[in-house]
Amino acid sequence: MSQPTAPPSPRRADSELSLAWQALQTARDHPWEREPELALHRDSARVTLVRGGQWHAVPALGSAAGALLDSLLPLVCDAGPRVVAQLGQSLDGRIATHSGHSHYINGVESRVHLHRLRALVDAVLVGAGTADEDDPQLSVRHIAGRQPLRVVLDPRGRVPAARRVFQDPTLATLHLLGEGAAAPDGVGDHVSHRWLARDAEGRVAPQAIIAALQQAGCRRVLIEGGGQTVSQFIAAGCVDRLHLLVAPLLIGSGRPGLSLPVIDTLDQALRPSARRFDCGDDTLFDIALRPIAG
Ligand SMILES: NC(=O)c1ccc[n+]([C@@H]2O[C@H](COP(=O)([O-])OP(=O)(O)OC[C@H]3O[C@@H](n4cnc5c(N)ncnc54)[C@H](OP(=O)(O)O)[C@@H]3O)[C@@H](O)[C@H]2O)c1
Repeated sequence: MSQPTAPPSPRRADSELSLAWQALQTARDHPWEREPELALHRDSARVTLVRGGQWHAVPALGSAAGALLDSLLPLVCDAGPRVVAQLGQSLDGRIATHSGHSHYINGVESRVHLHRLRALVDAVLVGAGTADEDDPQLSVRHIAGRQPLRVVLDPRGRVPAARRVFQDPTLATLHLLGEGAAAPDGVGDHVSHRWLARDAEGRVAPQAIIAALQQAGCRRVLIEGGGQTVSQFIAAGCVDRLHLLVAPLLIGSGRPGLSLPVIDTLDQALRPSARRFDCGDDTLFDIALRPIAG
């Protein structure tokens, strides 16, 4: 709930942002079932978060801290479980060039936003294509925050052991394989494997993946990419919120972002409620695919 105010001084704006970020991280672990309000104080400022997504502050927060709470509180304002997906894309809906080059479509503010998303969830999942081609670390580095479990969805066991998620021992990695697929040799001790059933086309049901992650203690999950993986989770109805970070860039060809089952008429299109936030030169669309339980 934004509260219009005069812009604060840069020092106060930094302090407000830091308080808002602390509030979000506290909300992530807050026992919302028992305590429907969470209040945080710093100096003379007080921020109160309410189960279901409302917040208020005394004195009122400036626009940057208010937007931070507005954009991220829906992810952590109840006991969950919650699945958020993200894609960074061009104006024409591409997430990488034809050759797979994607660094960087988005600006630094969007990368900070992605790291905030990682810090607010228990697990960050990428598809085999992203794990192989991008070789991401999937860690929180651009801001201070908790590190998630890294999850690689690799039903055919084709992601090479040399990838960083399999070699960097500083964070745990869960390697999700399809039944019958061999785990790669030469991965570190920080990697655990789990085998899931595949259908006739070799796909693992996104519902089964979310269930496996919940069994592993991960209530909040970020589906970080790429386009195929995010699309399958959305098509299966498994995503609560989609954060689309749209950069003012036309790639004109290359890897598509969302690609959902074909529809014939626009009345079959999804029409979720969406909110818009400035994120440097990019625009963040916070898209509610499922309502907050409250
Ligand atoms: N801009 C961004 O935000 C962003 C984010 C991430 C990645 N990227 C870019 O996106 C590109 C990769 O994306 P992508 O769409 O090509 O690939 P992807 O989504 O990373 O991986 C797709 C692969 O993951 C496996 N997979 C995903 N869901 C599955 C399911 N339900 N069941 C079974 N297997 C499943 C399959 O592996 P198999 O092929 O082995 O069957 C599938 O081909 C890279 O170029 C990367 O740079 C961009």
